[in-house]
Amino acid sequence: QARDTLRRAATDFTPVTQASSLGAEDVVITHIINELALDIGVFVLDTGALHPETLALLERTRATSRAPVTVYRPAQEAVVQFVQREGADAMYRSIDLRKACCGIRKMEPLARALDGKKAWITGLRREQSAARAEVPLLDASEPRTKFNPLANWTWGDVWHYIGTRGVDYNPLHDQFYPSIGCAPCTRAISLGEDFRAGRWWWEDEAAKECGLHVKKKTEGAPA
Ligand code: ADX
Ligand code: SF4
Repeated sequence: QARDTLRRAATDFTPVTQASSLGAEDVVITHIINELALDIGVFVLDTGALHPETLALLERTRATSRAPVTVYRPAQEAVVQFVQREGADAMYRSIDLRKACCGIRKMEPLARALDGKKAWITGLRREQSAARAEVPLLDASEPRTKFNPLANWTWGDVWHYIGTRGVDYNPLHDQFYPSIGCAPCTRAISLGEDFRAGRWWWEDEAAKECGLHVKKKTEGAPA
């Protein structure tokens, strides 16, 4: 079914691109794209705050992927100004500052990555969080169609694929990091903690999305 979703994206929605954080879900999707030789490019937002392990995997992926891998980085000047003004640990001080950092380091580069694309592909899964419990395989509710080919996969399905196919993955996953983002905003989790407990762990559950996948709520609609 994931394969069918990706085939459909490649045939009916070109130009279409995969958003890869190089997390476990995303390396599976890139593997399928390469195996089926689909006409889908891959992009990675290098926020300038990724772990060395993630950057090393990015280089290995660029060297081995059949599908072209494009890296988008934030505007250097905006980053420097923000860090000078607010400090390197601004994200811990308030949600607004955290969102401002995500705006500069992720959202602006994302807009460039998606410019001119008919659709994009993500590794969102329903199991990941309550906010993602209803993620559809094909989301046409936004102006740009989004495919979530692994929407109904379990964490076990993802690792079964990685294991049986010998897919390269981020070694941080072996150190209790199920969900990996920027280094300052990601920590390992303990047994029994939620899948995304290590992301923006100092914030309330409801705030814990970086904006990449936040639905625009209509005025007055219940949260
Ligand atoms: S986030 O919104 O909290 O950062 P998460 O890390 O779970 O999201 O990733 C969900 C999906 O968003 C990934 O499967 C991938 O498609 C996309 N994504 C997240 N971070 C990046 C990134 N740095 N570069 C490209 N795509 C990303
Ligand atoms: Fe900045 Fe953290 Fe957002 Fe990365 S996840 S862009 S470091 S606030």
